[in-house]
Parts: sequence; C-alpha cells; structure tokens
Amino acid sequence: MVLLAGRFAALVALLSLSGAALSAPAVHVAADPCVKVAGKQFAFPADALACLKSFPFNETLRQNVLTVVDRVFNFYTFEDFYLHSPPPFQDSTTNIRAQLQRINSTKYKTDYDFNHDLFEFTNQLNDGHTRWLPSCYETYQNLLPAPVVTLEQNGVESVFVAPDLLEFIPLVGSGYTDLLASIGFDWQRLAGARVLAIEGQDPYAYADFIAATQSGNYLDHGVRVNSVFSSYRISGNDFSQRFGDIAGPAFPDLQSLTMTLQLVNSTKPETVKVPFISSFAGVAFTNGADYWANNCAANDETNGVDNKSGSQFGRLAASDAPPQKTRKLAKANVVDLQAVSVGLPSQFEPTVPTLSGSEGVIKSYVLPDNKTGVMFVGSFEPDDFNGFQTDVQSAFKEFEQAGVSQLIVDLTNNGGGFVCLGQFLHAFLTGSKSLGNFQNPGFQSTLRANPLAQKIVASDIALGLNASFSFYTPDNYDFLNDTQMPLTDNFVNPPTTRTINGQQFAESQRFGDTCELGFVVDIPEEPFFPPDKIAIVGNANCASTCAMFSTLMNERHNTTIANFGGKPGSTFQFKGMAGNQVLEWFDIDSEIKTANLKDDPLAPPDLLVNADFRHNWRIAYSFLDETTPIEYKSEPARIRFPYTADTYNNPQNLWTFAASKLFS
Ligand SMILES: *[C@@H]1O[C@H](CO)[C@@H](O)[C@H](O)[C@H]1NC(C)=O
Ligand SMILES: *[C@@H]1O[C@H](CO)[C@@H](O)[C@H](O)[C@H]1NC(C)=O
Ligand SMILES: *[C@@H]1O[C@H](CO)[C@@H](O)[C@H](O)[C@H]1NC(C)=O
Ligand SMILES: *[C@@H]1O[C@H](CO)[C@@H](O)[C@H](O)[C@H]1NC(C)=O
Ligand SMILES: *[C@@H]1O[C@H](CO)[C@@H](O)[C@H](O)[C@H]1NC(C)=O
Ligand SMILES: *[C@@H]1O[C@H](CO)[C@@H](O)[C@H](O)[C@H]1NC(C)=O
Ligand SMILES: *[C@@H]1O[C@H](CO)[C@@H](O)[C@H](O)[C@H]1NC(C)=O
Ligand SMILES: *[C@@H]1O[C@H](CO)[C@@H](O)[C@H](O)[C@H]1NC(C)=O
Repeated sequence: MVLLAGRFAALVALLSLSGAALSAPAVHVAADPCVKVAGKQFAFPADALACLKSFPFNETLRQNVLTVVDRVFNFYTFEDFYLHSPPPFQDSTTNIRAQLQRINSTKYKTDYDFNHDLFEFTNQLNDGHTRWLPSCYETYQNLLPAPVVTLEQNGVESVFVAPDLLEFIPLVGSGYTDLLASIGFDWQRLAGARVLAIEGQDPYAYADFIAATQSGNYLDHGVRVNSVFSSYRISGNDFSQRFGDIAGPAFPDLQSLTMTLQLVNSTKPETVKVPFISSFAGVAFTNGADYWANNCAANDETNGVDNKSGSQFGRLAASDAPPQKTRKLAKANVVDLQAVSVGLPSQFEPTVPTLSGSEGVIKSYVLPDNKTGVMFVGSFEPDDFNGFQTDVQSAFKEFEQAGVSQLIVDLTNNGGGFVCLGQFLHAFLTGSKSLGNFQNPGFQSTLRANPLAQKIVASDIALGLNASFSFYTPDNYDFLNDTQMPLTDNFVNPPTTRTINGQQFAESQRFGDTCELGFVVDIPEEPFFPPDKIAIVGNANCASTCAMFSTLMNERHNTTIANFGGKPGSTFQFKGMAGNQVLEWFDIDSEIKTANLKDDPLAPPDLLVNADFRHNWRIAYSFLDETTPIEYKSEPARIRFPYTADTYNNPQNLWTFAASKLFS
C-alpha cells in the first residue's frame, strides 16, 4: 500500500514534469502489471515476474530486514563453521557477515531483486533451518510439464522425462494444461523421453548445477542432486509426486528450459523448448496495492508475541498448537518451497491395504510376502503430536498379528518435524531396555550463548518462567544424567568456549531433550524386530528430525540404510541437515519479547514486511564423536540403488525390491 503510494507519487511527479503531451505514454508506463495476473491460478512466468518486480527497491525496508537478519545470525549455531565448511561439505563455505555487507551495499532496482539476493545467499548456506523466506515473493512456483528422473535401464543410468507424465501432469489442474494448450505446446509426446541435454549441458551436469545453486536445504551436494529429480513423497497426509527442483523452481525467473530429447520410439534426437507455467500459491489480490497489502506487508502473525501477555490465545486456536499450559514442542524441519502439492497418480500407490494408524503422515503395510512390514514415515510433523505415537503403536499391533519378521522404514522426502517424535520412534523401534544405558536419546545438545541469549535465560529465570512460555527456560532440558534441570539452573552462564575457524565460539552446557515427558504410549521393553531385521530406505532428502532419527539408528544400532537415486557411481550422505532445533523469526522474537528484552540494543526490531528468517538454534552432537555436530559428521549410506521405471514413483515396488536385497 505504502509502496504503491510511492509509485503513484513518482507518476504524478513525472506527469507534472513532462506535461500533458506525455499523458498517453505515461498511462502506459503506469499500467499495473499485477492486474494482468490477478485472480489467476496459473500465469506465464514473464507476467508473474512483472508483477513481482513492480515494487521499487526501498532503502528503509532493506535496513529493517538486514538489521533483523544480522541480529538473528548472532543466535545461529553454525556461523563460525561456515568460514571454512569441513569436507565433504566444503562447497557451503561462506563468510556470512561479508555477504550481509555486500547485500547492504549492492544497488537494487526492485524490492524483488533485494529479496531474491538475500534469499539466494541464505539458500546457498544449504542449511534448511537457516533461510530468509519472504512471503511476498514465494507466491509463484514455476512448473515445467517435463519433470525429470534418473533411472537405470538395461544396466545403464540416464535421465528421462518422467514416464508417468500422462497420468501426472493432468493432476496439476486443467488451468495448467489449458494454458499449455493455448500456446500449442504438446507435452504429452515427451513422456518417458531420454534426456540428452538440458540448456546445452549433459543432464547430470545440469543436475549438479541446480543442486549447487538452487536446491539448498541439505549440506551434502549428493543429497541435493536427488532433490532436483521428481520423486514420491507424503504431503498433506497423502501420496504426492514432487516435481523436483529442475522442473519446479521457487521463482518465476525462467520462461522455458531447452532440452535435447530422444522421444520414445524415435531414433532421432530433437531439441525442444519446454515452457514453464507459474502456479500461484499466495493470498488472492486484484492489483499491485492489494498484492502488497495481502502478501508483503507485515501482519499480525509476522512478529513475535510476549507469551506472558495472553495475546497468544488467538494463535493457540490453530489445530497443531499445543494445548495451553503444556510444554512447547521443539521442531526441526525444512521448508520445501515445492508448495504446489500434486498427487501421486493413484495407480502407483500401494495396492496392499494400509494398516491402522495410516491416516496421517505415516502409512504402514504388510507386503505380499507376508513377512515384511513397511512403515513409510513421510514426516515427523503430523497434525496431531500424540496421534503420531498412537499410529506407530497401532501399526505395530498389526505387524505382530500378521507375524511379520522384518521391517522397512521408508524416509523418502521426510522433511522432519517435532524433535521428540524422532526420539519417540527411535525408542519405540529399539525398546526401553536398550535405552537403559543411553544418556538422553544418544546425542548431546547445546545452544549458542551469545550476550543476548545469556540475558534471555537470566531474565526468564528471574521472571520465574517455565517451558510453557519459552524454549530458553532450563526445565526444557535434562542434564546429561537424564534428570530435568531445575527452573533456576542457568545453563548458558558461564558459557563453554572454544575456537572454531579462528573465531571464539560460546555455547551453553551440554544437555539432552526431555522428550520422555511427552510420550503418551508405552515404549516396549524389548524391540519387536531385532536390529538386523530393520532397514531404512529413502532418497536421502531426510531433514532435521528425520536426520537425527536416522543418525541414531546408524550410530547406535548400525541399521542398514540404503539410498535410492543420485548420480551414477555416487555415494552420498543418508541424511541432510541434522541441526537439532529451528526457531522461526516469530519464535525467536517471542523469546525476546517474553523475556522483556525487546528494548535491548542487541534485540532485532519488528519486521516491516511479511517474511520469516528462521535459524538453526541448537546443535546435536554425534554420538560417535562428541566434538562434532551431527550436521558435520560425514555418514554416507553404505548401499545405493538406482531407481528404475518400476520404482521411482511406485513405493510398493521399491519396498519389494528393497526387501529382496536388504534382508538375508
Ligand atoms: C519505504 O518503506 C517504508 C516502510 O514501509 C515506507 O514508510 C516508505 O514510504 C517507503 N518509501 C517509499 C519511497 O515508498
Ligand atoms: C548498511 O550500511 C550502512 C552504511 O555503511 C550502515 O549505516 C548500516 O548500519 C548498514 N546496515 C546494516 C543492517 O548493517
Ligand atoms: C512405442 O512402441 C511400442 C511398440 O511398438 C508401442 O507399444 C508404444 O505404444 C509406443 N509408444 C509411443 C509413446 O509411441
Ligand atoms: C508463544 O505462543 C505462540 C502461540 O501463541 C507459540 O506458537 C509460540 O511457540 C510461543 N512461543 C514461546 C517462545 O513460548
Ligand atoms: C508453567 O507454569 C504455569 C503456572 O504459571 C503452569 O500452569 C504450567 O503447567 C507450567 N508449565 C510447565 C511445563 O511446567
Ligand atoms: C499371504 O497371506 C495371504 C492371506 O493369508 C495369503 O492369501 C497369501 O497366499 C500369503 N502369501 C504368501 C506369499 O504366503
Ligand atoms: C544430575 O546432574 C546434575 C548436574 O550435574 C546434578 O545436580 C544432579 O544431582 C544429578 N542427579 C542425579 C540423580 O545424579
Ligand atoms: C555394521 O554393519 C556392517 C554390515 O552391514 C558391518 O560391515 C559393520 O562392521 C558393522 N559395524 C559395526 C560397528 O558393527
């Protein structure tokens, strides 16, 4: 709104300067590009981009945003590691403060250009917990009607246009296919075509390029390579097929992709310019002013709240919010900007019946061999925290009744979620007896003891706050001997210091999570399945809580973990992003306000725009090496299988194949 007033002011100035003679071209110049795409679910990228770029750069907003980002980075656990990212993660090396200075002194034409640059810099930290996410510009996702996959055929791995294109693309919606038809683009003929080149490059080189520059979220390059391809997942409690980052980039920057293809049943390669279409996922608008007001201006949910004040009751009505007076629930998840959720064509969903407890993010089955149980854990962020636990319990009752003797856990595209649900599943699979000699779940945690964090803990203790109000209060955590910290134990003062890449790094004492306080089902004493009868499969896009869960299974139980996909001949990590706990901008701002410290000179101001600057707030240390964060502990999967035309989009086929290979 305010910006539009600015644009009108400029127009008025132009009109009065140039006089009546210029009125016709001036009206043309003034045309609001957002009007052209208003009310449309699908648009051509050039039109969507014109709307996004219609808001001029504003120095006030840059200073506001960069001040918030700069001060929140003080809480970021991995800042000092980035100065020299340890191998094999060296491609993420970044001098964070130098980048902020660069962005502070770059000349931008539009607000979009500034936000895009800040987005790209944080995106290329490859830490899905630490990102600038401007709601204003996450409104359009580009979709290419030719998502690509890497498949083995006759012993050779190559890139193909998804063979299920004819079943998949119509699920995007008729608005999408109509727009493609309106420009006469015949996408149907591309189904299953062999991809010989993308933008003039070998398709695997192009996959590397997108993984290096756009995929983000995961520290390991090999994991990001899998993000670029289309894959199955659970989204919104249902099977879904992800476009992949080549075919589904977050911004409407590209108009098309030029691909050299060998169509099915053809021997001659041909070069096709495949158009992108942008899909709108923001708040509806009718013009530019409206667009700004609805998508870009800060709203009631942008900035944090003082959780002592009761002003939070509105938000607590949300279905996933913990009931008042219970503990707040720590989260570790990534944001997948492939927000457009398209179903997996139903003919590729499992044909064996689901077991009970499969309504949410977990889908459980018994394979036709009657001896393999499958639990597809699509996320650790269910609608219902307790329901996740009872779903696991229900499925295991049925596994027992069916007499299955081995278990496949599928973690494909599991973006994480509640920290304690990862610890719950680990405990449930391995049994309380084996947990007896664990300290905490098997890894230690810390947070960064910067001066403002120290003030927050001191203030929370002085105010007598507890874990219903803040993540900083000591009762959120256990000492390493598994007893809960008393409310008065200041675990960040004195801090523990060490030198990381030449910087003095200060962190809290080591502690564990108090997850056991949130378990609502009994952990079996003995495990249902012996450790060698549990195998994990996935595409390594296993983030945050998923990464901590799979790391526990690997480090504590030597569980067999098989990666599917990747480039021919590659080995890569079985997980990415094991930060431990993420705080959204809303969360850290609430912590500061609840501790009565919003007026402190170190405190970031409220954001003027609607956006999130999330950051990794806690470290989880490797059990095998308690000086190294799990994040930086290289743990490649021992086994890799390429996808085939039978498995890339067909979970049951993949599980059947895995069961035949992974159990003796
Ligand atoms: C820049 O943004 C600020 C804060 O929203 C606003 O007050 C100011 O008018 C804007 N400046 C221009 C030139 O639009
Ligand atoms: C950006 O640079 C200007 C000029 O040096 C400085 O005054 C301002 O504080 C900087 N902003 C931030 C957020 O660091
Ligand atoms: C390719 O050829 C096979 C065998 O002739 C045929 O069954 C199939 O329908 C053809 N596919 C396409 C896409 O033309
Ligand atoms: C404050 O309350 C909001 C809900 O109103 C909740 O989402 C948030 O986690 C709480 N934050 C803290 C720090 O207690
Ligand atoms: C925090 O204290 C309030 C009383 O001020 C109490 O009702 C609540 O149960 C406590 N929460 C926890 C997690 O101990
Ligand atoms: C699995 O169990 C079902 C139902 O009891 C039975 O019909 C089927 O033949 C069994 N399959 C195998 C491979 O034993
Ligand atoms: C656990 O450790 C804490 C901190 O060192 C100590 O105060 C407490 O007494 C210990 N509790 C038990 C049961 O050992
Ligand atoms: C883990 O299992 C593999 C076989 O899958 C074996 O080679 C390896 O020695 C085991 N490691 C440990 C620490 O037991």
